[in-house]
Amino acid sequence: MPRGKPLRARSTLLLGAFCSLGCSGSQSALAPAGRQAERLANLFWGLTIGTAIVWLVVVGLALYATYFARAPLSWKGGRKLIIGGGIALPSVVLAGLLSYSLAMLPDLLAAAPAGALTVRVTGHQWWWRVQYTLAEQTVELANEIHLPVGRPVEFQLQSTDVIHSFWIPSLGGKVDMIPGRSTRLLLEPTRVGTYRGVCAEYCGTSHAIMSFVVVVEPEPDFERWLATQAQPAAEVEGGELRVGAQAFASHGCGACHAVRGTSAGGEIGPDLTHVGGRQSIAAGLSPVSAATLASFIARPSALKPGVHMPTFGMLPAEDIRLIGLYLEGLK
Ligand code: CUA
Repeated sequence: MPRGKPLRARSTLLLGAFCSLGCSGSQSALAPAGRQAERLANLFWGLTIGTAIVWLVVVGLALYATYFARAPLSWKGGRKLIIGGGIALPSVVLAGLLSYSLAMLPDLLAAAPAGALTVRVTGHQWWWRVQYTLAEQTVELANEIHLPVGRPVEFQLQSTDVIHSFWIPSLGGKVDMIPGRSTRLLLEPTRVGTYRGVCAEYCGTSHAIMSFVVVVEPEPDFERWLATQAQPAAEVEGGELRVGAQAFASHGCGACHAVRGTSAGGEIGPDLTHVGGRQSIAAGLSPVSAATLASFIARPSALKPGVHMPTFGMLPAEDIRLIGLYLEGLK
């Protein structure tokens, strides 16, 4: 078989995989699920088509000059070509493309309209603190955001350690989270679905394991979810769950983590009140289960290098298993 064939097949496969990964899925800026993302996708296609036309014209002229031009241009003709093709045309084309992209700015920077939802998100090495402010209380969770479809949401973004960058590619552009400052981002989801958000600024060893889940759902489902999140943790029943809850308390987990409705009121690590109902643990590291929770407690830094949570592998294995079971039950 000629050598070129497998190479060509591999390149085609690679290009196909690249396109299917980049143009669809839960984390693609080219499969918009929000008003701002739609505008950015249009900008991408507008600029791509515009620059492709410019490229084709330039390559066409170069080919023409190389293979078909019979004689060199006169001095006057050459000067006209330089002024027209080298100064006037690029100025007009670039000014056109620039105005097209700048025209979007006022909309992307607009103030939050009345009735917009406010969600405060704080970046930590390497997880996200998420807070919804209700009339009488602040509801806190981690690494998961729910949004009602069709309602604008203003994210208030901050960081407590280094610079992170908050990005939900399917919903819109990204904004840096800067220690000591508050930045904002206005988004409006238009399509129900589950999307992936990421940190888009290198922020240390586990930067690549700093993602979050965004669930866009109809308003009644969102209200129901938020009401559940606002509740304290349900009373644990007897048996292993109760022993797990006691192990959680006696080993001092509550010094860093809060479980509302219990004596655990720590504010350093993620709020665990409804951790069992979330889709992932440790900012997108693994799905939630008693086993994944237990293995994270036993060896956090082996699974998430550099993580600030200390290793608890010295606890009795049975206690770690029961704590995992208790946390999984916190729906
Ligand atoms: Cu946080 Cu990268």
